[in-house]
Amino acid sequence: MSDELLARANADRDEAVGRLGAAGTLAELREVEVQVLGRKAALSELKGSMRGLSEDDRRRVGRVLEEALAELRQAAQDRRARLEAEEEGRALEADRVDVTLPGPGPLPGHPHPISLMLERIVDVFVAMGYRVAEGPEVETDWYNFEALNMPPDHPARSLWDTLYVAGSNTMLRPHTSPVQIRAMQAQRPPIYIIAPERCARRDAFDASHSPVFHQVEGLAVDTGITFSDLKGTLLAFTAEIFGEGRRTRFRPSYFPFTEPSAEMDVACPTCEGAGCSACGRSGWIELLGAGMVHPKVLTNVGYDPEQVSGFAFGMGVDRTAMRAFGITDIRQLFYNDVRFLARFAG
Ligand code: PHE
Repeated sequence: MSDELLARANADRDEAVGRLGAAGTLAELREVEVQVLGRKAALSELKGSMRGLSEDDRRRVGRVLEEALAELRQAAQDRRARLEAEEEGRALEADRVDVTLPGPGPLPGHPHPISLMLERIVDVFVAMGYRVAEGPEVETDWYNFEALNMPPDHPARSLWDTLYVAGSNTMLRPHTSPVQIRAMQAQRPPIYIIAPERCARRDAFDASHSPVFHQVEGLAVDTGITFSDLKGTLLAFTAEIFGEGRRTRFRPSYFPFTEPSAEMDVACPTCEGAGCSACGRSGWIELLGAGMVHPKVLTNVGYDPEQVSGFAFGMGVDRTAMRAFGITDIRQLFYNDVRFLARFAG
């Protein structure tokens, strides 16, 4: 009786091991496991047949059955590990990336509208023989005010809403005129320089104001420079940028570092001088401040005002760029939203 049971147990075990080993997928394996290890499995049912055996035989057969079941569990575990490894291998294969394929390529950049405008302006002056000069965006009181004929407490200092660096006499320069001083210190006359640079003032950030903006400074110092040279140079410049026929006007003005001083306007390109919302109904657009370099400024850098004379001008770039490119909100120039900037590609 017990020998018969043992023979069946061995046969059932061999068959079950074969089926477990043949399971092709994890799902199939789970199914086979239930069939060969579950309560209704052949080996489990053999246990029920042990009731009629003697105590010794029961123990003997029981041990063989337990060993057989342990063997099946091991076989199932081996098969599962194998199938899982195969599945992972397939997933990895499907996920494979060919790193040798060419990528989508870099997005080519292009100049910002302000850079485009600065380039245009600089090109006109470079063609006249001017050289590009530069200076620091964080400037000292001496370069920004004192050397420009504004000693401490000079009331004209309040014309520039200056942002100071806390606890120091340095500031974010509110105009490009300190570059005049640096250029004159760096060389002797004749000097013909143009300085396209970034400035900052204590200003709101709204549709028509920005605390960060751009100016182009110009300076010519030589023997016998006159106000006519200043006018002729600026008229040649406006003809290049705004077109030959565009009307301009000079108004008397005041700057501590030029004498005499003037401001130059161009006829509004939108209304041709008639007055519209673009020019605040005046028909004119303020373009720049200018004048003959003050003798005090020349002596401040060690020049002899009896020997040399010069003119200087400083123009706002951001508004000119806005007008040239049809931009109505100055903040667009500083948000760096690529959807907006893409308009200026190529
Ligand atoms: N720096 C002056 C300004 O910011 C402009 C200017 C430059 C005027 C040079 C005269 C000469 O308003």
